[in-house]
Amino acid sequence: MTPELDALQAQINQFLDAQLPRQSELAQTIVDAMRHTVLGGGKRLRPMLVCATADAFGAPIQQAIAPACAVEFMHAYSLIHDDLPAMDDDDLRHGLPSAHVAYGEANAILAGDALHSLAFETLANNALHRSRIKLKMMQTLAQAAGWQGMAGGQHMDIKAENQSLTLPELEALHGAKTGALITACGRLGALSACLADDIQLRASKTQCLQITRFGQRLGLAFQVMDDVLDVTQSSDTLGKPAGSDEALNKSTFPKLMGIDGARNYAHTLVDQALEILHHADLKTTLLTQLATLVIDRKH
Ligand code: IPE
Ligand code: IPE
Ligand code: MG
Ligand code: MG
Ligand code: MG
Repeated sequence: MTPELDALQAQINQFLDAQLPRQSELAQTIVDAMRHTVLGGGKRLRPMLVCATADAFGAPIQQAIAPACAVEFMHAYSLIHDDLPAMDDDDLRHGLPSAHVAYGEANAILAGDALHSLAFETLANNALHRSRIKLKMMQTLAQAAGWQGMAGGQHMDIKAENQSLTLPELEALHGAKTGALITACGRLGALSACLADDIQLRASKTQCLQITRFGQRLGLAFQVMDDVLDVTQSSDTLGKPAGSDEALNKSTFPKLMGIDGARNYAHTLVDQALEILHHADLKTTLLTQLATLVIDRKH
């Protein structure tokens, strides 16, 4: 990662730590499981994307930290549930035992539920933005995570085990299970840049549309690369079990177009994403670095 992204990541980690509960008389195990998953590791790509987008729209990064961390809580919940025996049944996450291995299945499910709630609580508690903007942020996150976004995509992913999907079908699956939340990051970044009550963004409507198109390309590229890394990297490097997709006979891009084909496809998508940014006059250093990270990563 670049020094700029390192600094941003450190800022995000600090806020995540501060937002997470530490002690609970009622449910200490749940709190421990939440902290284990969120603070155990993670690239923080999604929150960095929220902050970098706010920056591209002319706002100070601090203005986007709360919405950024709300997305990371939502993401962490999705990882806990994704690893459960009923889903991918993976025992390793961030180089540590998955939440259900460390804390038991019921506690892992509940920690996921609690992180899902904490995401919305973080958006609601954010003191920097007015109510109407916070409402828009909540709608944006809810839609991205729900039945027409991540949860719907996870359903498609399970249904597509042992199936051969066509390219448009696989794009729809990946676009929902991963692309929707990443696309929401751009939109939340744009909303974060807006402090006024009338949702007058500092940017034009066209720029907001373009940031959505950018997110869709980037989100798809991200999951294509995740599929590639699953078959090209070791469990040690990934911090999660390599070959998990193969073991469950998932529908993936390497399966559909080969490893090189999938890698090239991810590069093309990121090129397109950067082209969109360029035309929208939003091609900042931070957003460019993040887009590059999506394809240049090892885990
Ligand atoms: C993993 O996402 C889950 C997918 C949507 C592919 P990340 O690779 O962003 O997970 P962390 O947070 O960095 O571990
Ligand atoms: C998960 O996709 C997408 C989520 C919504 C969590 P994967 O199942 O490929 O993610 P990893 O590889 O386990 O991180
Ligand atoms: Mg999965
Ligand atoms: Mg998985
Ligand atoms: Mg994967």
